[in-house]
Amino acid sequence: MNGITQSTALWYVSRATGVVSLLLLTGIVVLGILVNRQGRLPGLPRFVVTGLHRNLSLLGVAFVALHVITAIADPYVTIRIAAVVIPFASSYKPFWLGLGAISLDLVAALIVTSLARARMSRRAWRGLHWFSYAAWGSAVVHSFGASNDLHRGVLLYLAIACCLVVAGAVIWRITHAGRELPREERAAATLEMMSPGSIRDTRSQRRDAENIR
Ligand code: HEM
Repeated sequence: MNGITQSTALWYVSRATGVVSLLLLTGIVVLGILVNRQGRLPGLPRFVVTGLHRNLSLLGVAFVALHVITAIADPYVTIRIAAVVIPFASSYKPFWLGLGAISLDLVAALIVTSLARARMSRRAWRGLHWFSYAAWGSAVVHSFGASNDLHRGVLLYLAIACCLVVAGAVIWRITHAGRELPREERAAATLEMMSPGSIRDTRSQRRDAENIR
C-alpha cells in the first residue's frame, strides 16, 4: 500500500474527517445565522438555505461519527468508547478530547431537538439552539489543541478562516437584530398585506410577504 499501513490510513482518515467536520460545523453555524435573520444567499430562496442548513447538519454528524470511529480504531493511541461522550474521561489528551466530547454531545442534542421540533415550544427549541455556538466553539478549541496539524500551513489558514467567517456572521447578526420586526409583528404585517381590502396587487403582496418572512 505504498508505505501506508492500516494504522496510518486510520490516522489520515481520522484527521481528514476532523477537518471536514470543522468546515461543515462552520458552514452550518453560518447558514443557521442566515436562516434565523431572514438572510438569503444570492440567487437562492429562503427554503433552499433552510434545506441546506438541515442537510449539512446531517452530513456534519456523519463526518464527526467517522472522525470519532477512526480515532478509536487507530491502534496508535487507546481511546475508550466512553471518552467519546463523557467529557474529560479520556486518558489520552483528556482536556482536548474532552472538548471534542462536549461538542459531540451538544451536536447530538441539537440534532435530536431539531428532529423533535414539532413537539417543542418555539421558545424552548430556540433556547437550546443557542448551544450551537458552544458546540462550534468547543470543536474549534478541540481542533487547535488535540493536534499540531492546525498550528501551521494551509490548515492554520483554514481554521482562522472558519473563525473569521463565524465572527463576521455573528457581527452581521447583531447589527441587523435591531432593524427587524418581532415575529408576532411580522406575522401581523403579513396578514395585513394579504387582506382583501389591501390595494396592492397579488404579486407585490407575495413579494413583500416573502421579504419579511
Ligand atoms: C464536533 C466534534 C469534533 C470536531 C469538529 C473535531 C475536529 C477535529 C479536528 C479538526 C482535529 C485535527 C485534525 C488534524 O490533525 O488535522 C481533531 C483531532 C482529533 N480529534 Fe476531533 N473533533 C470532534 C470531536 C472529537 C471526539 C468526540 C473525539 C474522541 C473522543 C475526537 C478525537 C480526536 C483525536 C484523537 C484527534 C487527534 C489528536 C492527535 O493528533 O493526537 N474528536 N478533531
